[in-house]
Amino acid sequence: MDSRELLKIAEEARFNAYVPYSKFRVGAALLTSDGKVYTGCNIESASFGATNCAERTAIFKAISEGEKKFVKLAVASDNSDKNQPTWPCGICRQVIVEFADDIQIITGSSKGDIIEINIKDLLPHYFAKGDF
Ligand code: THU
Repeated sequence: MDSRELLKIAEEARFNAYVPYSKFRVGAALLTSDGKVYTGCNIESASFGATNCAERTAIFKAISEGEKKFVKLAVASDNSDKNQPTWPCGICRQVIVEFADDIQIITGSSKGDIIEINIKDLLPHYFAKGDF
């Protein structure tokens, strides 16, 4: 699937976000190697540390459905409307690399500029299985 199309799906997915605290909606769209798309949104908690980011929601949905191979992950937010990218947080980068160490991360705005970067360039020298 085209990256712009995947980013548009991520932008739509943010509208399901549960964000009473930050009021900042994030959406993700994860493309599998056989062309399926799993969406995610951020889900906050009154106990802030229990908040789940959009990227991890999408990944956990896909893993829990038995998916194994991922090719692209688009990340969008309310910043996409301002033609600004949304970068995965550190915890999400570590979770992404756990399941997809060669995935392309897509961000930016479906109506504007798109950035595409490999997870290895977002999280160099990452810690992984095999390191212990
Ligand atoms: N958030 C995400 O969903 N993904 C990220 O990669 C960055 C942060 C969410 C978590 C929280 O609900 C809100 O954005 C503000 O941090």
